[in-house]
Amino acid sequence: MVIMLQSNLRSKQITKCVPLLSIIIMDHTPSEPQEGCQVSDGVSVEDIADIEEINALTELGTTLIQAILEKEPIANIQELIDAGAPLWFQDNDGVSPLHAAAYVANENLIKIFLDDGAVWNAVDNLGNTAGDIALSMNNESCYKLIRDAGIRSELLLAILSSRSGLEHSSSTLIISDDDTTAVGSTDAFLASSLEFTVDEYDQEICLLKPEDDSKVGVMMSWEREIMSRTVDELCSDHPRLEEGLRVLNIGFGLGIIDSCLQRVTKIPSLHVIIEAHPDVLVQMKKQGWYQQPGVKIMEGKWQDVVQRKEFLDLGAFDVIYTDTFAENYQELCKFFRLLPDLMVGPDARFSFFNGLGATNALFYDVYSRVAECHLSDIGVHVSWNDVWVGGEEDQERWGESRKYFTQPLYRLPVAQLKSTV
Ligand SMILES: C[S@@+](CC[C@H](N)C(=O)[O-])C[C@H]1O[C@@H](n2cnc3c(N)ncnc32)[C@H](O)[C@@H]1O
Repeated sequence: MVIMLQSNLRSKQITKCVPLLSIIIMDHTPSEPQEGCQVSDGVSVEDIADIEEINALTELGTTLIQAILEKEPIANIQELIDAGAPLWFQDNDGVSPLHAAAYVANENLIKIFLDDGAVWNAVDNLGNTAGDIALSMNNESCYKLIRDAGIRSELLLAILSSRSGLEHSSSTLIISDDDTTAVGSTDAFLASSLEFTVDEYDQEICLLKPEDDSKVGVMMSWEREIMSRTVDELCSDHPRLEEGLRVLNIGFGLGIIDSCLQRVTKIPSLHVIIEAHPDVLVQMKKQGWYQQPGVKIMEGKWQDVVQRKEFLDLGAFDVIYTDTFAENYQELCKFFRLLPDLMVGPDARFSFFNGLGATNALFYDVYSRVAECHLSDIGVHVSWNDVWVGGEEDQERWGESRKYFTQPLYRLPVAQLKSTV
């Protein structure tokens, strides 16, 4: 079991995974004295038995990690596992047996541990998964074993959760969590006010100020390169460019992508923008977007707008982009399922802000591939383009905002309906 790390495409930082043993220890801290079975100072016989069991597990787990790091023969390691050494154990540094196996680059052990249920996404105290360790050691085969286990596990959990109707799971990253704050809930976000400003590094930003005094960038202009490359990939060699593309964008933010879309060599014949936040709509009015020829602004949440007759009457699109805020992967998946109806045909192109898991290399890789699998399921093929975004100094990029994207490469998806012929 691993504590929720990150479920939103934008806005949230990965939080440290709490080793399970510390949860058990906290759960078993003696509290109220129990009648009839107390030993001393409110500690019950059951509590002592539990503490002894925890100590035994801690010892076994520690011995297992040592044995792996000391490269003992697999038979010794298997013996420890058979004796009950827990694969979910993490020592004081947060190192698990899987981390240890990655440190010693032992593919066999990694396979055994993953098959036996080791937690693929456990992070150590420095925020590294076993996959990150394999990656940092340039060990592609070990990395792929862990990454593929992550993809399988996330896909399976997504299926199980959709079948059982479960909304929540503590062991997966992509299932929605309980966040009701403005960074994790659309309704709370839409009820919060936004600040459009320029930071001390001359960067245009749209900021949300949650109640806890922190600042979260809803959109920051360091992402300009991502948006402009996205438009390039979506439009520049589009077979219908000369006719004037029919474009749909969800989420205006700072209007960066919409401005890029207006600058393609042939202006779009129809440019629909769906935007839900009242403060953003005010900005759009101030900037004259409502008067822009060919631009149609549809106010409201995309989930509602796409059902309106006024929207359905517009027909299908050549180019579609979505980049919202405070929405989780499940919402993005819901949008994926609309694509076959929204895209005009196999020439139409779709992209989305690919930010899930983007504060950790392994998670970013896993979730890019999970999205690819889900799109493939509905008949949409994705190709990926890498955009270098690692250039700026951290402070210049983030100012006072929480960091929501820390990878040096942005993986830009371009998706098209698979041709049926
Ligand atoms: C990250 S910004 C988009 C940035 C934009 N791509 C740009 O280039 O500036 C996200 C935008 O999505 C809007 N938004 C969030 N949830 C939405 C929803 N459910 N429907 C429509 N718009 C939404 C937010 O108000 C915000 O303006």
